Amino acid sequence: MTDLNLAVIVLAAGQGTRMKSARPKVLHSLAGRSLIAHVLATAGELEPGHLIAIVRHERDAVVASISDLMPGAVIVDQDDVPGTGRAVELGIAALPDDFEGDVVVVSGDVPLLDAATLRSLIDAHRGAAAAATLLSAILDDARGYGRIVRGSAGDVDRIVEQADATADELDITEINSGTYVFRVAPLREQLALVGAKNAQGEKYLTDVVGLLRATGAVVSALSVTDGWRVAGVNDRVQLAEASRRMNEVIVRRWQLAGVTVDDPATTWIDADVTLGEDVQLLPGTQLKGATLVQTGATIGPDTTLVDCEVGAGAIVKRTDATLAVIGENASVGPFAYLRPGTYLGADGKIGTFVETKNSRIGNGSKVPHLSYIGDTTVGENSNIGAGTITANYDGVTKSETVVGSHVRSGSHNVFVAPVTIGDGAYTGAGTVVRKDVPPGALAVNVAPQRNLEGWVEENRSGTDAAAAAATSAAASDTA
Ligand code: UD1
Ligand code: MG
Repeated sequence: MTDLNLAVIVLAAGQGTRMKSARPKVLHSLAGRSLIAHVLATAGELEPGHLIAIVRHERDAVVASISDLMPGAVIVDQDDVPGTGRAVELGIAALPDDFEGDVVVVSGDVPLLDAATLRSLIDAHRGAAAAATLLSAILDDARGYGRIVRGSAGDVDRIVEQADATADELDITEINSGTYVFRVAPLREQLALVGAKNAQGEKYLTDVVGLLRATGAVVSALSVTDGWRVAGVNDRVQLAEASRRMNEVIVRRWQLAGVTVDDPATTWIDADVTLGEDVQLLPGTQLKGATLVQTGATIGPDTTLVDCEVGAGAIVKRTDATLAVIGENASVGPFAYLRPGTYLGADGKIGTFVETKNSRIGNGSKVPHLSYIGDTTVGENSNIGAGTITANYDGVTKSETVVGSHVRSGSHNVFVAPVTIGDGAYTGAGTVVRKDVPPGALAVNVAPQRNLEGWVEENRSGTDAAAAAATSAAASDTA
């Protein structure tokens, strides 16, 4: 149910300088979603009455992404005053005047934070009737984070940023996760007092904590035990670390849902992938985008599927596939390359060293070896011979090949499109099919073979081949 007393402000205006990227930091991706998409999804789970996103750097790209993911979000542009404090100040100014509830502040660059942790933060905050409650963590490596300075009684005193910290303060291992809940009125009051006299010349949100304490208000901190949950992504090293953590969470979730993962360390599953029970994932498997794998299918080893659908019981081995549909109990690979628009029917096969594109291969039909099949429709229970190429492109236009059902085409054929091979037809080995083949016909167009007897001994005398031929001839003479 919507919590009308709750507003979430997502901070996404920063430049992300440390990423050294043309792309805004919050649009970098993790498990197939942008950083901001993870944060918005988590914020959405809280069902807040108000969701506000603060933007500035690359604002159009960031706004497009936010509006796409969460059309109800209110976008607020940060002005020339830099700092998280300014961002939140503008965010609360966008709330209705009569809003008297709590404001959750999250960063667009903290993607692993989950809704359950945020809920316990809100519960702790409301339970203690605090003016502010912040989420902290004890980290082995606190570098880069603001540190929580506690007083002699153990209460939170203030937060000091890394850039402003004394040597003693730098030794503090309890860090500010950048995630907080504030009661809106005291937050508004104190933000008005925050200045920018600090190492970075920014209006820090973190200064509110010290100011609130000075008024005697209750400020508490909830410390998470899994420090990685609140890790910020500021550079590409942290991005890779966060990806690994997110992957561990996703792999574990699927394992507990009945998926066998032989090697979690080399198996990568995007956040939007769906897997059935008894799916088996072998080492080196990457499942990306909106890939769906049905019950009992086996994927891998060394397989990448992007936005694919795999039917129940199918086997997909050492394969690279994008936007492909693989039917029930079908078999793909090893070493297959399925490009967009590939559809393989139930019990079908796309075998070794086969490339397919924009092609429907019907139920029970097989393309077992060394072939390129593009812009083609194959009916049911047909077999395409080894080494078949569909010549679908004449340099100007792409044309279609149609192969019927129960066709047996010979090895090393070229199907020169547009061309149709009728139901039940055969083609001879090495045929270049340029004309339609009627149903039930055998198509051959290879020149009859001529054997020039004794050619090697005459023209290549003295070679090992000539000697072998002479030995063989002598042996058959005495036989
Ligand atoms: C911030 C906290 C630090 C905390 C850390 C946790 C402050 C002053 N410091 O530091 O205590 O340990 O997060 O990850 O808050 N942003 C804006 N507008 C701005 C500046 C930043 O919206 O003017 C956004 C950024 O896009 C980002 C978030 O705020 O999503 C945090 O900014 P960042 O520059 O990453 O702050 P940190 O230095 O990491
Ligand atoms: Mg940060």
